[in-house]
Amino acid sequence: MNDTILVTGAAGFIGSNFVLQWLAAESALLVNLDALTYAGNAGSLIDVSEHPRYHFVHGDINDRRLVSSLLAEQQPSAIIHFAAESHVDRSIRGPEEFIRTNIQGTFALLEEAKAYWKSLAEEDQKARFRFLHVSTDEVYGSLAEHDPAFCETTPYAPNSPYAASKAASDHLVRAYHHTYGLPTLTTNCSNNYGPFQFPEKLIPLMIHNALRGEPLPVYGDGQNVRDWLYVGDHCSAIRCVLHRGRCGETYNIGGRSERRNLDVVRTICAVLDELRPDSLHKPHAELITFVTDRPGHDRRYAIDFSKISITPTGSPPSPTAAIATGSPLTTPKLEALASHADCAQGHHSRRRHWHAPLSGHALHLQAASAHLRQADDLLPAQRADAGGYS
Ligand SMILES: NC(=O)c1ccc[n+]([C@@H]2O[C@H](COP(=O)([O-])OP(=O)(O)OC[C@H]3O[C@@H](n4cnc5c(N)ncnc54)[C@H](O)[C@@H]3O)[C@@H](O)[C@H]2O)c1
Repeated sequence: MNDTILVTGAAGFIGSNFVLQWLAAESALLVNLDALTYAGNAGSLIDVSEHPRYHFVHGDINDRRLVSSLLAEQQPSAIIHFAAESHVDRSIRGPEEFIRTNIQGTFALLEEAKAYWKSLAEEDQKARFRFLHVSTDEVYGSLAEHDPAFCETTPYAPNSPYAASKAASDHLVRAYHHTYGLPTLTTNCSNNYGPFQFPEKLIPLMIHNALRGEPLPVYGDGQNVRDWLYVGDHCSAIRCVLHRGRCGETYNIGGRSERRNLDVVRTICAVLDELRPDSLHKPHAELITFVTDRPGHDRRYAIDFSKISITPTGSPPSPTAAIATGSPLTTPKLEALASHADCAQGHHSRRRHWHAPLSGHALHLQAASAHLRQADDLLPAQRADAGGYS
């Protein structure tokens, strides 16, 4: 077994942030297996494409022959499984792809991981191997305003085809541990925000539309609450669970940062008003448009992540305790994202922008503007007033 990890779906939003953090903080080689669907953006990792410890493989997790040969060739000590269809609205319009990737794809990966793990010659290699499955808090369903936050023992009650497909994959992972002894770990996290997110999700969609003076579609009354988790904190927590988690366990990861959707959108508008005082679209809040609610829209998510704030042995506190006080969704965070997108848009349209790019981010801006170009092709409905975000 090599000092290598296999990461699926690492050209996506969270995966690409994970790669950058991993290469900066860890010593093992990282192999990224990604099918580059509409949500994957190889440009997000352009900075590290030549990195000696990074290797990209273009392929589908359902391709068992490919996965099998990759495992035999690379001999990884862990698989981190991010690859998924991840957008709730798309799952409502067309659930098949969610069944294929999230359920069948996870099954294919588990089967190949089991065969590889069983083939490991040494007992200590078998004991070291980990299969870490990245999942969502949406498997727990919806909370009322005063309900306690989701914890790891909250019963599953998924409400969308996306959540149901992730719940099914979580159950498969659990079963492969209990039935075959595969050393699995599962993490269930809340809504992430941060760089490289595809602009079909709430925060990047609102920034993207506001910068263009297009309607900001808010579902229903805008009072749905999400517990926002900064993607960098999420990646740190995943690394911590990988190194210290107990096999067969699940760990919730949250941001302790509950916000109503409407408040998030208003904050983005206020940030943009400040960032672009000469904008023709100011005040940006006037672009807010309430649209028909998503069917089965979960009202509130909140995560109790006290379990990862202590090590599996009890004490001392693990590094993930830092996220309890770490990076709540603040105006400066949104400001950084908005100015990043602002620069990317300027780059994309080749217009000179009044706002100076964040220093040292030229390549990231290229990646972000590639995503914006993709979004222009893929999001005509969301860019009008049809709604659509997660
Ligand atoms: N973004 C969030 O807020 C959030 C919250 C909770 C959980 N999650 C989970 O975290 C994981 C990553 O989410 P994300 O937001 O980065 O997703 P994303 O949609 O941005 O990226 C998914 C990546 O998976 C790849 N992919 C899709 N199907 C594939 C296949 N069959 N084979 C190989 N690669 C494939 C895509 O090309 C893309 O690069 C997902 O499992 C998601 O369910 C995300």
